[in-house]
Amino acid sequence: MIYITGDTHGFNDIDKLVLNKTLASLTKEDYLLITGDFGGVWDVGMHDEDILDYYSKKPYATLFIDGNHENFDLLNSYPVEMWNGGKIHRVTDKVFHLMRGQVFNIEGSSIFTFGGGLSIDKAYRTIGISWWPEEEPSEEECAEAMENLEKNGFLVDYIVTHAAPESIVRNEINNSHRLLCLDCKAEMFLDKVLEKAVYRHWYCGHYHFDMDIPNHRLSVLYQSVLEIKSGSKV
Ligand SMILES: [Fe+2]
Repeated sequence: MIYITGDTHGFNDIDKLVLNKTLASLTKEDYLLITGDFGGVWDVGMHDEDILDYYSKKPYATLFIDGNHENFDLLNSYPVEMWNGGKIHRVTDKVFHLMRGQVFNIEGSSIFTFGGGLSIDKAYRTIGISWWPEEEPSEEECAEAMENLEKNGFLVDYIVTHAAPESIVRNEINNSHRLLCLDCKAEMFLDKVLEKAVYRHWYCGHYHFDMDIPNHRLSVLYQSVLEIKSGSKV
C-alpha cells in the first residue's frame, strides 16, 4: 500500500514517522510518499548520511517530491532514470525523488507529481547554501507537466504536490489560516492543473498544518500519515 505524509525537514519533523505503529509494520511491498521538504539531500556529509540511513533501513521504499527547502544543486547531481513511468533521481536503493510533472503508475494507481514552492523566508537565506532559485518551477517543467497530463487524457488517480493551487490558497486555506499570498509560480501553475485535471484526490504539503478541503478533494498534510486510496489516517 502507499502511505503519504507532509514535510519532514530532515530529522526535524519525523516523529510522525518514528512513532507511527502502522508504518512500523510495513513491508517491502509498501511505499511512503513525502509531499516535499524532505530535507535528506541537503548537506554532503554526516547530516544526509544519517537521514538517508534511517530511510534506507526500512523495508519499504520512501518516495518524495521536492519542496522549496531542498538543496537543488545536490538533488540535480543524481542521474535521472525512468521508474514506473516517470523520471526520478535514485538517491539510494530505497529513496527516490519523484520529479516534477511526471505521471507514475504505482500499485495500479496513476500519480501526478509536481514539487516546488516559494520560500517566504528567502530574504534571510543564502543562495546556494540555504536557498536555491530552482525551488520555483521553470517554464519547461510546467510544459512537460501539461504534456504528460495530456498524454493521460488529464485523468489521474492522485495528484501529489508540495504547494496547493493558488485559488485554493487564496480562498479555502487563507480563510482558515490567513496565509500571506505571494506570487508563487508553483501555486499559479497548479491552478491550471486544477482547471484541467480530473482526479480522485489531491495531496499537498508546504503549509505546515493539516487541513481537508472536501469541495476540491484536497488534503493539506503536515503531521498526518494517510493511506493514499482510502484517505484514512494511520
Ligand atoms: Fe516545509
